[in-house]
Amino acid sequence: MLLVSKGGFLLGAAATVGAISKVTRTGRYLYTDDGNRFFVKGVAYQPQGKRTVVASSTNAFGEPSTFTDPLADSASCARDLPFLKQLGVNAIRAYSVDSTLNHDDCMGNLSAAGIYTMRVIQHFYSLNGSIDRASPAWSTNLQDEYLATVAAFAKYDNVLAYNVGNEVMLNNATDPAPFVKAAARDIKAYLTSISSSALVGYAAIDGAADFLVPLANYLSCDSSGSNSGASAIDLFGLNNYEWCGNDSSTTYDGVNGEFAGYNVAAYFSEFGSETCDPGVRVWTETGTLFSSPMTNIWSGGLAFSYFPASSAAGNFGLVNISSDGTTVTPNQDFNNLVSQYGEVSFVNSPSMSSASASSFPACPTTNSSWAASSTLPPTPNDAACACLENALSCQFQTTTSNYSALVGSLIDTACGLLGALNGTCDPIGGSGSTGVYGLLDMCDPITKLSFVFSQYYEQNGRTASACSFQGNGAVNANAPAETALAAATSCIASPSAVFTPSFSAAAPAKSSSSGSGSSSGSSGSNGAASFPSSNVLLSLALVCGGILSSALWTLT
Ligand SMILES: *[C@@H]1O[C@H](CO)[C@@H](O)[C@H](O)[C@H]1NC(C)=O
Ligand SMILES: *[C@@H]1O[C@H](CO)[C@@H](O)[C@H](O)[C@H]1NC(C)=O
Ligand SMILES: *[C@@H]1O[C@H](CO)[C@@H](O)[C@H](O)[C@H]1NC(C)=O
Ligand SMILES: *[C@@H]1O[C@H](CO)[C@@H](O)[C@H](O)[C@H]1NC(C)=O
Ligand SMILES: *[C@@H]1O[C@H](CO)[C@@H](O)[C@H](O)[C@H]1NC(C)=O
Ligand SMILES: *[C@@H]1O[C@H](CO)[C@@H](O)[C@H](O)[C@H]1NC(C)=O
Ligand SMILES: *[C@@H]1O[C@H](CO)[C@@H](O)[C@H](O)[C@H]1NC(C)=O
Ligand SMILES: *[C@@H]1O[C@H](CO)[C@@H](O)[C@H](O)[C@H]1NC(C)=O
Repeated sequence: MLLVSKGGFLLGAAATVGAISKVTRTGRYLYTDDGNRFFVKGVAYQPQGKRTVVASSTNAFGEPSTFTDPLADSASCARDLPFLKQLGVNAIRAYSVDSTLNHDDCMGNLSAAGIYTMRVIQHFYSLNGSIDRASPAWSTNLQDEYLATVAAFAKYDNVLAYNVGNEVMLNNATDPAPFVKAAARDIKAYLTSISSSALVGYAAIDGAADFLVPLANYLSCDSSGSNSGASAIDLFGLNNYEWCGNDSSTTYDGVNGEFAGYNVAAYFSEFGSETCDPGVRVWTETGTLFSSPMTNIWSGGLAFSYFPASSAAGNFGLVNISSDGTTVTPNQDFNNLVSQYGEVSFVNSPSMSSASASSFPACPTTNSSWAASSTLPPTPNDAACACLENALSCQFQTTTSNYSALVGSLIDTACGLLGALNGTCDPIGGSGSTGVYGLLDMCDPITKLSFVFSQYYEQNGRTASACSFQGNGAVNANAPAETALAAATSCIASPSAVFTPSFSAAAPAKSSSSGSGSSSGSSGSNGAASFPSSNVLLSLALVCGGILSSALWTLT
């Protein structure tokens, strides 16, 4: 059947006996437990969320502000599984999931069908879900969110990789890279600590060589000076849409050259241009992607996208879903991909024993097209940030659950006011381009805000009214007499510490009743859902320069 690939590899075995084989990386290649090479032959599997950010020339898709977890909804998963089998895929890529939901049914059935999942552990929300390109930080709230996701998926045998980001860096915005690399380092350490073999990846937007090459090298480089892979990703994903219609194999010559000597595994985390043959993509690139010389460089790819997804670049999507969510109608794109994927047979060289181990070169030096320091931020330290929050004299306190926009504007305002006094917002900021990170840069936005509130309150002689911020601040009666800066220095005793983070599960997973499992910015079903606004901390850097912003808040 279509489920069994021509190589008789992986899917046949998985379809008959249950247990799906573990996939690991040796050097730049992926192998299953039996020593055969593993190639991703997949499809992106994420319903399109609402877009709030306008698409630009460098990013045809704006970032979504809402998402539906495709792996928590048993009904839609059961509906789609026969079509995924028909496509003959061995992997799907989900972009956003809700770690508080139950994924057992869907993950179990995907595993039984020999389908791995690759997941982006970001939710695309700027303040609490993904690393915000506009104001990047690797902070406790984000790390907790990432760890919660990894912990929720650790029990499944078919998680191939966790991506710590998707298209965070752009060709003129490379400074988030140290934060993304630190996320890879800390998530990798956590996976090791729980004996998980899942890979750590990143999926990149395509771009000119002077952006793409240093980006790929940076994410897989050694930032410690000891040929260590501790902060290196395992898997570089390239979202590549170069191939148009019936192009020839030379289409990929450029990118093949760029990745010819890459040190870890690489694959196309998205492919399938809609430009030349909209609606009737012929998918002939699969023949080139899954044969030599590309198989010496790449480990397959994922077609974009199972679900309809539209952007300025076209209407992607292999199926339509009826408005009541019950019926799947495949289109010609789908049928063509079934044919092309059906032709794929996997090469099986080099063998696992002859694959060279990775070496981890020094990170690329910074220049005008690559502005990311090789000095990484520390591991976000929950205990240190909690210690500080408790010791601060004036704490953020609010009655609304939807406080993301509020936190952003309060930080702006309070930092502006502080700039005119003798306080400083420097400790809450950090710079990926210079590699200088403030003491509190790794703390969550609430602690940062309380820190700024406290300084302002202290600068004003601890007058209660200076801790009001229109009812959003409260004097902490239990705080020690020390200043906010002194509390920060004592709580955050090892400001550049790198360690293995731990995670303790908070609440048990909610059960996902049939048809539910959807999460959106307005549902309020999890922490991230309260943070639909983008660019919340956008003006932070400016304000922290000491510029007095217009008082949005009257201090009463
Ligand atoms: C999973 O498989 C079971 C048993 O075949 C079936 O009852 C259930 O509906 C399936 N669920 C999904 C999400 O495919
Ligand atoms: C962010 O998400 C985490 C985990 O879901 C949650 O505990 C936290 O309250 C959220 N909000 C902030 C501002 O960190
Ligand atoms: C990056 O370039 C795009 C267009 O090429 C532009 O819209 C965007 O504002 C630029 N971003 C920055 C941070 O300069
Ligand atoms: C910056 O350095 C990278 C190598 O790390 C190189 O590929 C790129 O071309 C350089 N950019 C410029 C503008 O020189
Ligand atoms: C690609 O080739 C096929 C078969 O020759 C043809 O039917 C199709 O129209 C071509 N598509 C494009 C976009 O040229
Ligand atoms: C899928 O939906 C789109 C937009 O509603 C429509 O144009 C297209 O014909 C549909 N395709 C199929 C195969 O039903
Ligand atoms: C401002 O801070 C400096 C150094 O901490 C201190 O010497 C000075 O007295 C402070 N000024 C005021 C007005 O508090
Ligand atoms: C949250 O607050 C922002 C700004 O105040 C607002 O635009 C947004 O609609 C609110 N979201 C919800 C879910 O209430």
